[in-house]
Amino acid sequence: MTYAVTLPDLGTLDAWRTAARIAISHRIAPDLIDWTGGGGLFAASPLPDQQGSHQAKVPAAFFDIAKSAIWHKSPDRAALLYQALWRIDRRIGDPLSAADPLGRRLQLLAKNVRRDIHKMHAFVRFRELPSVGPRRRFAAWFEPEHHTLEPGVPFFAKRFADMDWMIATPELTAHFEGGKLRFGPAAARPDLPDDASEGLWATYFANIFNPARIKLDAMRSEMPKKYWKNLPETQLIPAMLKDAEARVQRMREAGSTPARPGAAAISTRYRAAMPQAPDLPDTLDQAQAAAMQCRRCNLCEKATQTVWGRGAPNAALMIVGEQPGDREDLEGLPFVGPAGQVLHKAMAEAGVDPAKAWLTNAVKHFKFTPRGKQRIHQSPDRAEIEHCRWWLGLELGFVQPRLTVALGASAAYALTGNAGPMKDRVGKVEQGLHDGPVLVTWHPSYILRLPDPSTARADLVAALYEAQARTK
Ligand code: URA
Repeated sequence: MTYAVTLPDLGTLDAWRTAARIAISHRIAPDLIDWTGGGGLFAASPLPDQQGSHQAKVPAAFFDIAKSAIWHKSPDRAALLYQALWRIDRRIGDPLSAADPLGRRLQLLAKNVRRDIHKMHAFVRFRELPSVGPRRRFAAWFEPEHHTLEPGVPFFAKRFADMDWMIATPELTAHFEGGKLRFGPAAARPDLPDDASEGLWATYFANIFNPARIKLDAMRSEMPKKYWKNLPETQLIPAMLKDAEARVQRMREAGSTPARPGAAAISTRYRAAMPQAPDLPDTLDQAQAAAMQCRRCNLCEKATQTVWGRGAPNAALMIVGEQPGDREDLEGLPFVGPAGQVLHKAMAEAGVDPAKAWLTNAVKHFKFTPRGKQRIHQSPDRAEIEHCRWWLGLELGFVQPRLTVALGASAAYALTGNAGPMKDRVGKVEQGLHDGPVLVTWHPSYILRLPDPSTARADLVAALYEAQARTK
């Protein structure tokens, strides 16, 4: 007896799980099932309706791979997953391991899908549409490589919960209206009007663009050309490339003070020891690994190490400082020195649990000038903040906080692009370059320097209290 399973275009993962559970419970061997719907030569029957007596135990690692691999466009992905399930059930080797050809194949499928989803999150560009009700309306066109619209859109539903939007693809369309997500059939590429947000994206892209790192091949593989036409900012690429050499030269000339003896050697050794991270990381951990090797500006030459953020990787609240201080540079952790103490005390008073927030800095290397045995803090300049915005953008993209608190002018500039004076902005919520809200307040180091810090300190506690209330 042979069986045929037709997987739907929507709800594919659940449908595969249900079918696989039934098939394994009846001990139906992989070569008896045609997962492509039975279009083959042999006459096939549907699977039984009910589960059989056998219960298979499946490790969580299998579901981790299955929940990505099933969206791959490869027609044999469902069959391969079932082969792995069969072998797990029969204890035939380790079909999830990279040492096994099946494991290697499945890992690759899962990785391709995760990358495709990541690209969707990075490259979907919404255009505003005329609105009929109180909610703003947006639409975007996107062409994924795999069947990734369904697993990819919950990200947008969380991020743009208070707007109505649709993402149309050649296969399916996702509609988010009144807070509800639904899917419809494929649409022709919509003829969408341009709007001012295109200009914003262009500015953002120009800001994060680091001419010293232009690698056209990498750019093409990370942002395949087929996406370019849908991205307003890519229209800037030719102009930026033309200016790139001159900008590199200006960066070199504007370089900061020379490294103290030995520091460069330490950071070079450190970077050499790290695995080469991919250019466009798929996870927060990969982003951290890549940041450890960062050479986007000269600050890495003197600093001991990159200081990455810490806390809950899915925190609703992100708190961003300026840059690591002396202690942070040595320990490799943010906010462990005197300013960190002020911040942690204020957080405790406001009821913010540091383990539930994500604490990080606009700039990931300590900038200082040596004076005797001391290293004196220097504020990062705009170019340094802009180079480092790449990392901050990745942290924001992976953590996806509902609210971000900017401590001081450098963080506020990094997050919003607004370099206006702090006194007009403290306690206010501004729109971040990442499209999320940013609550601006004083930096704890500023509070430490004031002869009478009471008012500024109360502002900091109040901001944290409000942030806690908004992200509970
Ligand atoms: N100041 C900051 O802005 N960040 C730190 O991590 C420490 C001091």
